[in-house]
Amino acid sequence: MAREMRRDEARVALVPDVVGRFVAMGAEVHVEPGAGVPAGFDDEAYAAAGAVLDDKALEVADLVLAVQAPLPATVRRIPRGSALVSFLPTSAADSIGELRDCGVDAWAMELLPRISRAQSMDALSSQALVAGYRSAIVAAGLLRRFFPLNMTAAGTVQPAQVLVLGAGVAGLQAIATARRLGAVVKAYDVRPAAAEEIRSMGAEAITLDLEDLSAEGGYAKEMTTDRAERQRELLAPYVAAADALITTAAVPGRTAPMLVTREMVEAMSPGSVVVDLAAESGGNVERSEPGRVIRVGDAQVWGGENVPSQMPEPASTLYAANLLALVTLMTTDEPDVPAPDDQSDEPVDGPVDEPAGERVLRFAPDMEDEVVAKSCVVKDGVVVHEMTRAVLQGGSL
Ligand code: NAI
Repeated sequence: MAREMRRDEARVALVPDVVGRFVAMGAEVHVEPGAGVPAGFDDEAYAAAGAVLDDKALEVADLVLAVQAPLPATVRRIPRGSALVSFLPTSAADSIGELRDCGVDAWAMELLPRISRAQSMDALSSQALVAGYRSAIVAAGLLRRFFPLNMTAAGTVQPAQVLVLGAGVAGLQAIATARRLGAVVKAYDVRPAAAEEIRSMGAEAITLDLEDLSAEGGYAKEMTTDRAERQRELLAPYVAAADALITTAAVPGRTAPMLVTREMVEAMSPGSVVVDLAAESGGNVERSEPGRVIRVGDAQVWGGENVPSQMPEPASTLYAANLLALVTLMTTDEPDVPAPDDQSDEPVDGPVDEPAGERVLRFAPDMEDEVVAKSCVVKDGVVVHEMTRAVLQGGSL
């Protein structure tokens, strides 16, 4: 397992508990010293779980596990013929090109199909859950008033009004967290199916007289310019009435839709708070900046930047569990029986170099399996994922 090299990354791919599970399955796990420290896991915990602390972990690996796409210089340390599983967004085109050139097969966590069999591997969901929780906590922290209703001898303090735009995994978790803190929450999503989920979290679902934008797989379609304009108009009074606005709307593979203009934020009451979880992918809120809090009118606008990494311990624990589920699907402890053509006349009972009875875990991805095939980005020196290949070739998405 690799130490994360990107500056703002505090998560780690494997936590000690999951290392122990891999070791019990027959894997030898090498961990770069210090890899877990930013997430709160020290080297001793990895060693106690059965890991080998190894500065050369990358150089000896058959399979490298990471959170972020390793930088090109790191990729060059991975042996040809090995494999990598990590997040591999198209924005990491330089790393993906290097993986291809270095003959390292690669699988991307964000490309796993969102089918029920792959739910335990769904790192987009697990990390969105962390980001959604954190967005509500940030909003509560920045707001200079109570979230809950307070009835005291000195009088009643009204609860905060929270508005959540986008009610996917992150939005629903933001709603649940704001509700647990006692705020009054309203939420809107372009998929009508989200309304029931919004209500089940204890919030009011806003319905607008607009076209349904549900797409395949529970995702949303992109809005036309006219619809976007109309949606902003209809949402403006809700934004103006909110003490805290949390935006989480995304359209897969596209720039985030701009849901809230500067004028809409300026119409909020003094001291209001805006948390834009989509700031890195273009922003749901005009002017929001990843990793910064800026002032727009009398409101503070917080732009999210690698938000799951801001809670690295639970984010890593969930991510490691996702990896365990995926890697379990891609490995076997069955002996590698040679193909019939390769067999000599001598009868072979098992692999000659393995002692009888001892099972060794092997990386053996089954490319016939939908989950394995759809998440594969690089195989045998070729970028097999079409959209990624288009980006590498300088095409547009
Ligand atoms: P996401 O991160 O792509 O988008 C977040 C939310 O923003 C979505 O609910 C989307 O409808 C909403 N949105 C997009 N454009 C919008 C706009 N203009 N205005 C307001 N809202 C807008 O989505 P996420 O959270 O990754 O998943 C979305 C849905 O996918 C889930 O709610 C679920 O139905 C489905 N899903 C299914 C899974 C499975 O295993 N079957 C696993 C995870 C998600």
